[in-house]
Amino acid sequence: MNETLETMWRRRSIRRYRPDGIPEEHLNLVLEAARRAPTGSNRQNWRMVVVRDPDVRRRTAEACNGQMWVADAPLILCLVTLPGEGQVNGTIVLDHAILAATSLGYGTCWIGAYDAEKVKAVLGIPEDHGIVCLTPVGLPAERPDPRPRKPPDELFMADRFGAELDYSL
Ligand SMILES: Cc1cc2nc3c(=O)[nH]c(=O)nc-3n(C[C@H](O)[C@H](O)[C@H](O)COP(=O)(O)O)c2cc1C
Repeated sequence: MNETLETMWRRRSIRRYRPDGIPEEHLNLVLEAARRAPTGSNRQNWRMVVVRDPDVRRRTAEACNGQMWVADAPLILCLVTLPGEGQVNGTIVLDHAILAATSLGYGTCWIGAYDAEKVKAVLGIPEDHGIVCLTPVGLPAERPDPRPRKPPDELFMADRFGAELDYSL
């Protein structure tokens, strides 16, 4: 098992955070991982709002359907798409950031339950831009067990949809 796979295996949705801040060096590595993510035709048609201010974090958490634990983390990342752009590139970018944060020992949680108008108002995101998802980033204050996943034979198919694929780890 190499470090990349170990990081992917270890990632969990974390919903309890310690208040400790994130050193700038770590934050910059997470942001750089996002910047290096691939995008279609290298358009880089995304922006990220890096939320550290405690009051803005609190109001962002409120806009995330009141998931107030999001604001317990010292950092929230909000992935924004430019006008008329789809969500695929931004999703890849945020996943890069999330896995980089995981590899540095931080917890994260994809946040897709939010009121887009409210998040835009809190973060000053222009009306014609889109939001992919947000994530808190901070030291975990819980160690949740892995959530179950569907069995491989339900997910993977050999050559044609519906055909069984031999799979074992
Ligand atoms: C697109 C997306 C949106 C999500 N939105 C939320 C959310 O708003 N609140 C939350 O607590 N978890 C949210 N989750 C976390 C999922 O519930 C979680 O990833 C799933 O249960 C699997 O658990 P794991 O991440 O620990 O493997 C979201 C996950 C994804 C991928």
